[in-house]
Amino acid sequence: MIEVKDLWYKYPREERYVVRGVTFSFKEGILSITGPNGSGKTTLLKLIAGLLKPARGSVIIGGRDMWSLTERDRTMLRREIVYVHEKPVLFRGTVIENVSYPLKLRGYDKGYRLTRATKVLRLLGIEGIAHEKVRNLSAGQAQLVSIARAMVIEPKCLLLDEPTSNLDARHKDLLLRLLRGFAQKGTLVLIASHERSALRIASQALLLRDGTMAFYGNPIEAQEVLHEIYG
Ligand SMILES: Nc1ncnc2c1ncn2[C@@H]1O[C@H](COP(=O)(O)OP(=O)(O)OP(=O)(O)O)[C@@H](O)[C@H]1O
Ligand SMILES: [Mg+2]
Repeated sequence: MIEVKDLWYKYPREERYVVRGVTFSFKEGILSITGPNGSGKTTLLKLIAGLLKPARGSVIIGGRDMWSLTERDRTMLRREIVYVHEKPVLFRGTVIENVSYPLKLRGYDKGYRLTRATKVLRLLGIEGIAHEKVRNLSAGQAQLVSIARAMVIEPKCLLLDEPTSNLDARHKDLLLRLLRGFAQKGTLVLIASHERSALRIASQALLLRDGTMAFYGNPIEAQEVLHEIYG
């Protein structure tokens, strides 16, 4: 369960608050966060991931208040949350090395790491590039690899920033279907996107307009409000 209470944020040296009084609680499934460019989607995801510290308000995950915890407990909490940046951040080497790396960090043996990583690549429809060097990947492939690397550890919360922006229709469908499977197994999935495709699989929708919450609730009703926001 994620609880966000009266969250406010402004970037250092800026005057303007770009997240303004956002409040919601999200128990299970997939939350789609939609809104125009600059409405605060990325900032909100980073606040939930604990990567940015709110000016006011709180982020409570599984009953733990992110910024009331000790440094050590906060680090533990952050391990349960994976934020996938919209621009893939990969290290040098091959696809399979990148995807199995988080398992290496967690001490799993090589055989297990390869089996798990290969499975995730297959589910995303990119097993064919397992031994490709990441520097040779297309934008969409790199995006899928960075998502695979997040999925491989089966986090409690998976936060995806514009995950479908570079994907073709087939990979977009595969990804959305896979995310639904993760959500059914108990992962909380948050998808920030200016596209509406995630609304199709979402159990809840949050619409942002200029940093404020224009709507929170049923994804079908959200479609109507979206028309008003985008004009
Ligand atoms: N590092 C930063 N420093 C200062 N202002 C920033 C910074 N990052 C974002 N902003 C501002 O915060 C506001 C919200 O930006 P944010 O990136 O959260 O929006 P977004 O909804 O994710 O947009 P997009 O659809 O383009 O990804 C914008 O007005 C933006 O200019
Ligand atoms: Mg963004």
